[in-house]
Amino acid sequence: MLLKNRVGKKDIFYLIDKYSCAISRVEAEMLLEYLFNCERLDLYIRDFSINKTMEELYDSLISRRLKGEPVQYITGCTEFMGLDFIVTKDVLIPRPETELLVNVIRDTLSVTQTKNPKILDLCTGSGNIAVSLSKLMPQSEIVATDMSEAALKIAEKNAARHNLSDRVRFYKGDLFNALIFAKNPKFDIIVCNPPYIKEDELSYLQKEVKTEPEIALNGGKDGLDFYRIIAKESYRYLEKGGSILLEIGFGQKKDVENIFSSYSIFEICRVIKDFNNIPRVMWFNLI
Ligand SMILES: C[S@@+](CC[C@H](N)C(=O)[O-])C[C@H]1O[C@@H](n2cnc3c(N)ncnc32)[C@H](O)[C@@H]1O
Repeated sequence: MLLKNRVGKKDIFYLIDKYSCAISRVEAEMLLEYLFNCERLDLYIRDFSINKTMEELYDSLISRRLKGEPVQYITGCTEFMGLDFIVTKDVLIPRPETELLVNVIRDTLSVTQTKNPKILDLCTGSGNIAVSLSKLMPQSEIVATDMSEAALKIAEKNAARHNLSDRVRFYKGDLFNALIFAKNPKFDIIVCNPPYIKEDELSYLQKEVKTEPEIALNGGKDGLDFYRIIAKESYRYLEKGGSILLEIGFGQKKDVENIFSSYSIFEICRVIKDFNNIPRVMWFNLI
């Protein structure tokens, strides 16, 4: 019963196929889910009859997409760790690679059975890391910070959306300076997916990435500014034996390792590769 009769009036398959040369089927489905306010599966089992207005609305969404607007900004949401997150142009669209950070922290804490772990999520953006960690580990205490007020508003909305407003605390400020008003800012884990693109590579990014906030991408001249500050200052905010987990960009492993080893207070614990076999997460312990 999955395939519907396609003869006669325009149906959802007509819209799915209409721009099949220009956008992927997945993106077409995401836009149609948004347009019809339904689940992906509904597209295939419910009967949608397409009138002129709906077709024109769909055409206008497609035209935004073809101009380079990511589908997540058009629909205002994305999925991360199986959870729905609100996204706007004020926040980076969470990437699947970043789920590695969340999974590693969850797995490690469940093995070590750390009671009420305190976690700091620096550069929280949409709050995707902080909110999913809090959801996965209800006993954790999570603090999340960002320099962008607009991003923090989205992060707070995401915490509220998942009923976690009382479990994740948000502070605005430049990296660790945001913690000036936090009570007892000492953590078992500091996690961060910082901006790490080299300044002079920003203009070569894909048009979709260029629609994301520059403050979320620009890692300074060599892309490593944030790692330097974190390596220099994090010891003040870490419990003894605490860990730092960082997402890194392509080809940054050696440089980040050198930055941290120059302080002689960190040991490198693990480097985790992503699904393309690229080193993506670096884990340091404070010794
Ligand atoms: C790469 S995005 C990461 C967003 C989110 N954590 C994720 O993983 O998708 C980096 C974030 O760092 C924030 N940011 C940039 N400069 C900052 C600074 N100096 N202090 C704190 N946050 C900063 C940006 O606003 C942005 O939200």
